[in-house]
Amino acid sequence: MARFDENFLVGAATAAHQVEGNNVNSDYWAMEHMKHTNFNEPSLEAVDHYNRYEEDIKLLAGAGLNAYRFSIEWARVEPKEGCFDANEIEHYRKVLECCRDNGVEPIVTMMHFTSPVWVIKNGGWEAESTVKAFADYCKYVVEQLGDLMKYVVTINEANMGIQVAAIAERYARQMKEQMKNRKKGGDKNLEGTAQVGMNFNSMLKNMFFQRFENKKVFRTSSPQTFVSSRTAEGDMLVVRAHQAAKVAMKAVKPELLIGLSLSLHDIQVEGDGAANAMKEWSDEFTHYIPYIKDDDFFGLQNYTRSLIGANGICPNPKGAKVTQMGYEVYPQALENVIRRVAKEMPGVPIMVTENGIATSDDTERVAFIEGATEGVAKCLSDGIDIRGYMYWSLLDNFEWQKGFSMTFGLISVNRKTQQRMPKPSLSYLGKMR
Ligand code: BGC
Repeated sequence: MARFDENFLVGAATAAHQVEGNNVNSDYWAMEHMKHTNFNEPSLEAVDHYNRYEEDIKLLAGAGLNAYRFSIEWARVEPKEGCFDANEIEHYRKVLECCRDNGVEPIVTMMHFTSPVWVIKNGGWEAESTVKAFADYCKYVVEQLGDLMKYVVTINEANMGIQVAAIAERYARQMKEQMKNRKKGGDKNLEGTAQVGMNFNSMLKNMFFQRFENKKVFRTSSPQTFVSSRTAEGDMLVVRAHQAAKVAMKAVKPELLIGLSLSLHDIQVEGDGAANAMKEWSDEFTHYIPYIKDDDFFGLQNYTRSLIGANGICPNPKGAKVTQMGYEVYPQALENVIRRVAKEMPGVPIMVTENGIATSDDTERVAFIEGATEGVAKCLSDGIDIRGYMYWSLLDNFEWQKGFSMTFGLISVNRKTQQRMPKPSLSYLGKMR
């Protein structure tokens, strides 16, 4: 059923490290290959999107989608500080051209969680030098490829580090309680409050040995990757990196449309949780408004709701359906979050840069997309300026520490043969416009 007009962008998203394969100069690759790793498995050749992008973009376009959000990998483009790789630029030129040739609008993310190892060696996402380093990389990419680009997301989920810090703190507190009561293992429900695959249990278990391995690889026992627990200062540093990159890219191509994305839950109050809920929403969203209110668009990413009571995050409601990630299946969350963002940050167009469900049951995915896009259509008819809806993800892929077991994709992949098998949800989404 068509819900949107011709010009509305209906697409799907991926991130370089999760799909391309062999991202050997990145911090994630290094962490995946440590002896005491927190990753269930390494990304290796992932789903070989680096070599199969053409087939993947054609499947997307053939199903009727008109946008593709993907990321350019900093660790490929600048594997050593100040040394840019012309071959990798050529590769991404071909990807962008392939989008254009197939009538697909590319939405390019400049940094989707992974950084080159040298950035982390220099202090990572808590070091002031990273602001300029990131802006320089973005400027270079736009100088080389700006002619094919229109929408740019500087940083994916700029708030992920402080979300991780909050969850890690809760987790550690809970583990202490459990030790006192002699119970084993952490609460899986807490892991599910991060909108990204993380294994908090193994992170705590491995912490001691990882200090030595980290020192070898990153020159520090506590590396500050993008998804490390972020300090308040680090949070502002990320914002400054976004702003510096925006200025640098606009200097090259002023008409580029630039924004960042945030991971937002539909925060709902339970009982006496109003003050906590307000604090949670401020941490996730409102405190960023002063720094992003003049952006060309806002990248909104939502997967579920979060119930906040007097003691903080509540468990999933009894009997609630949950995704493979452990969070509640709640497609209505997207509409609620869009309305809230539009009210609190009026005048900034919204692009839904991620929304999706990890499930092995594709009929459940179709129902999720139906519910979520119905909400988007209602917001549009109420006059909210939304430019597009990107489903996460085009392909089943590497869900960070969780490995390949989480299936978010519109297309499944046999990782032995790398054969693509589109699911019915792909054509369902393609018929939305
Ligand atoms: C991230 C993706 C991730 C997805 C599903 C988002 O937080 O941007 O990289 O795979 O959620 O967990």
